[in-house]
Amino acid sequence: MLIKPDGMLDRCHIVNFPKVTDFRGNLSFIEESRQIPFQIKRVYYLYDVPSGASRGGHAHRELEQVVIALSGSFDVILDDGTNRHTFFLNRPHYGLYIPAGIWRELENFSSNSVALSLVSQVYDESDYLRDYEDFKRWITNEQIWRETFNHR
Ligand code: TYD
Repeated sequence: MLIKPDGMLDRCHIVNFPKVTDFRGNLSFIEESRQIPFQIKRVYYLYDVPSGASRGGHAHRELEQVVIALSGSFDVILDDGTNRHTFFLNRPHYGLYIPAGIWRELENFSSNSVALSLVSQVYDESDYLRDYEDFKRWITNEQIWRETFNHR
Protein backbone atom coordinates (compact mmCIF):
# COMPACT_ATOMS: atom_id res chain seq x y z
CA MET A 1 0.00 0.00 0.00
CA LEU A 2 1.25 3.49 -0.87
CA ILE A 3 1.61 5.64 2.23
CA LYS A 4 0.73 9.23 1.39
CA PRO A 5 1.98 12.21 3.44
CA ASP A 6 -0.24 12.30 6.47
CA GLY A 7 -1.26 15.94 6.52
CA MET A 8 -1.68 15.78 10.30
CA LEU A 9 0.34 19.00 10.63
CA ASP A 10 -2.52 20.82 8.91
CA ARG A 11 -4.58 20.14 12.02
CA CYS A 12 -2.14 22.08 14.23
CA HIS A 13 -3.16 25.70 14.48
CA ILE A 14 -3.00 28.87 16.51
CA VAL A 15 -6.01 29.64 18.72
CA ASN A 16 -6.61 33.33 19.42
CA PHE A 17 -7.97 33.95 22.93
CA PRO A 18 -10.05 37.02 23.73
CA LYS A 19 -7.99 39.99 24.97
CA VAL A 20 -9.53 42.75 27.06
CA THR A 21 -7.17 45.70 26.68
CA ASP A 22 -7.07 48.02 29.68
CA PHE A 23 -4.71 50.76 30.85
CA ARG A 24 -4.53 48.80 34.15
CA GLY A 25 -3.19 45.78 32.27
CA ASN A 26 -4.62 43.36 29.73
CA LEU A 27 -6.80 40.34 30.48
CA SER A 28 -7.36 37.20 28.45
CA PHE A 29 -9.64 34.31 29.20
CA ILE A 30 -10.18 30.77 27.95
CA GLU A 31 -13.52 28.99 27.88
CA GLU A 32 -13.28 25.28 27.24
CA SER A 33 -16.46 25.18 25.17
CA ARG A 34 -15.45 28.12 22.94
CA GLN A 35 -11.68 28.15 22.38
CA ILE A 36 -10.60 24.62 23.30
CA PRO A 37 -11.70 21.70 21.06
CA PHE A 38 -11.61 19.14 23.91
CA GLN A 39 -12.53 18.77 27.56
CA ILE A 40 -9.65 20.04 29.71
CA LYS A 41 -8.66 17.24 32.13
CA ARG A 42 -5.27 18.59 33.26
CA VAL A 43 -3.18 21.77 33.30
CA TYR A 44 0.59 21.80 33.70
CA TYR A 45 3.32 24.34 33.16
CA LEU A 46 7.03 24.49 32.46
CA TYR A 47 9.02 27.26 34.15
CA ASP A 48 12.59 28.00 35.28
CA VAL A 49 13.76 26.38 32.04
CA PRO A 50 17.54 26.90 31.80
CA SER A 51 18.93 28.61 28.71
CA GLY A 52 19.60 26.04 25.96
CA ALA A 53 17.36 23.35 27.46
CA SER A 54 14.73 21.59 25.38
CA ARG A 55 11.52 19.94 26.57
CA GLY A 56 9.00 17.63 24.98
CA GLY A 57 10.65 15.12 22.69
CA HIS A 58 7.62 12.87 22.50
CA ALA A 59 4.21 12.33 20.88
CA HIS A 60 0.89 11.19 22.30
CA ARG A 61 -1.37 8.41 21.04
CA GLU A 62 -4.62 10.06 22.22
CA LEU A 63 -3.90 13.26 24.13
CA GLU A 64 -4.75 16.65 22.59
CA GLN A 65 -3.10 19.80 23.87
CA VAL A 66 -3.06 23.58 23.70
CA VAL A 67 0.28 25.22 24.58
CA ILE A 68 0.45 28.89 25.61
CA ALA A 69 3.50 31.10 26.16
CA LEU A 70 2.03 32.64 29.30
CA SER A 71 5.27 34.57 29.76
CA GLY A 72 8.34 34.98 27.52
CA SER A 73 8.78 33.01 24.32
CA PHE A 74 9.85 29.64 22.92
CA ASP A 75 9.71 27.57 19.73
CA VAL A 76 7.45 24.53 19.36
CA ILE A 77 8.69 22.18 16.64
CA LEU A 78 5.94 19.87 15.39
CA ASP A 79 6.48 16.75 13.29
CA ASP A 80 3.81 14.41 11.89
CA GLY A 81 6.34 11.79 10.75
CA THR A 82 6.53 13.36 7.29
CA ASN A 83 6.66 17.13 7.71
CA ARG A 84 8.03 19.51 10.33
CA HIS A 85 6.93 23.02 11.23
CA THR A 86 8.16 25.44 13.88
CA PHE A 87 5.73 27.74 15.69
CA PHE A 88 7.18 30.66 17.66
CA LEU A 89 5.00 31.43 20.68
CA ASN A 90 5.49 34.79 22.38
CA ARG A 91 2.02 36.15 23.28
CA PRO A 92 -0.18 35.00 26.20
CA HIS A 93 -3.35 35.47 24.15
CA TYR A 94 -2.32 32.86 21.56
CA GLY A 95 -2.39 29.09 22.03
CA LEU A 96 -1.07 26.33 19.79
CA TYR A 97 -3.45 23.39 19.31
CA ILE A 98 -1.67 20.03 18.89
CA PRO A 99 -3.81 16.96 18.12
CA ALA A 100 -2.79 13.40 18.97
CA GLY A 101 -0.09 11.78 16.83
CA ILE A 102 2.28 14.74 16.58
CA TRP A 103 5.90 14.66 17.75
CA ARG A 104 6.77 17.90 19.59
CA GLU A 105 9.92 19.60 20.84
CA LEU A 106 10.02 22.87 22.79
CA GLU A 107 13.24 24.88 22.43
CA ASN A 108 14.81 28.34 22.65
CA PHE A 109 13.08 29.34 25.87
CA SER A 110 13.62 32.98 26.79
CA SER A 111 14.48 33.74 30.39
CA ASN A 112 11.49 33.69 32.75
CA SER A 113 9.28 32.00 30.17
CA VAL A 114 6.29 29.94 31.27
CA ALA A 115 4.79 27.31 28.94
CA LEU A 116 1.24 26.51 30.02
CA SER A 117 -0.39 23.34 28.67
CA LEU A 118 -4.10 22.54 28.70
CA VAL A 119 -4.57 18.85 27.91
CA SER A 120 -7.36 16.36 27.31
CA GLN A 121 -6.18 13.56 29.61
CA VAL A 122 -4.85 12.99 33.09
CA TYR A 123 -1.20 11.95 33.17
CA ASP A 124 -0.78 8.48 31.67
CA GLU A 125 2.70 7.32 30.68
CA SER A 126 1.24 4.64 28.38
CA ASP A 127 -0.13 7.41 26.11
CA TYR A 128 3.44 8.65 25.42
CA LEU A 129 5.65 7.73 22.47
CA ARG A 130 9.07 8.84 23.69
CA ASP A 131 11.25 7.26 20.99
CA TYR A 132 11.18 8.92 17.56
CA GLU A 133 11.55 5.63 15.64
CA ASP A 134 8.69 4.10 17.68
CA PHE A 135 6.64 7.18 16.83
CA LYS A 136 7.40 6.77 13.09
CA ARG A 137 6.32 3.11 13.19
CA TRP A 138 3.20 3.97 15.17
CA ILE A 139 2.18 6.84 12.84
CA THR A 140 2.68 4.61 9.78
CA ASN A 141 0.36 1.98 11.28
CA GLU A 142 -2.17 4.70 12.17
CA GLN A 143 -2.00 5.96 8.57
CA ILE A 144 -2.71 2.48 7.20
CA TRP A 145 -5.61 2.15 9.65
CA ARG A 146 -7.03 5.55 8.60
CA GLU A 147 -6.74 4.75 4.91
CA THR A 148 -8.31 1.33 5.39
CA PHE A 149 -11.26 2.66 7.37
CA ASN A 150 -11.34 6.10 5.71
CA HIS A 151 -11.08 7.72 9.15
CA ARG A 152 -9.22 10.92 10.17
P1 TYD B 1 8.09 15.00 30.60
O1 TYD B 1 6.93 14.39 29.88
O2 TYD B 1 9.45 14.47 30.30
O3 TYD B 1 8.08 16.58 30.38
P2 TYD B 1 8.15 17.40 29.00
O4 TYD B 1 7.73 16.46 27.93
O5 TYD B 1 7.15 18.48 29.15
O6 TYD B 1 9.53 17.91 28.85
O7 TYD B 1 7.80 14.89 32.14
C1 TYD B 1 8.79 15.06 33.12
C2 TYD B 1 8.41 14.29 34.35
O8 TYD B 1 7.23 14.82 34.95
C3 TYD B 1 8.15 12.83 34.06
O9 TYD B 1 8.73 12.06 35.11
C4 TYD B 1 6.65 12.71 34.12
C5 TYD B 1 6.26 13.80 35.08
N1 TYD B 1 4.94 14.39 34.82
C6 TYD B 1 3.91 14.16 35.71
O10 TYD B 1 4.05 13.47 36.72
N2 TYD B 1 2.69 14.75 35.47
C7 TYD B 1 2.47 15.52 34.38
O11 TYD B 1 1.35 16.05 34.19
C8 TYD B 1 3.55 15.72 33.44
C9 TYD B 1 3.36 16.56 32.20
C10 TYD B 1 4.76 15.14 33.71
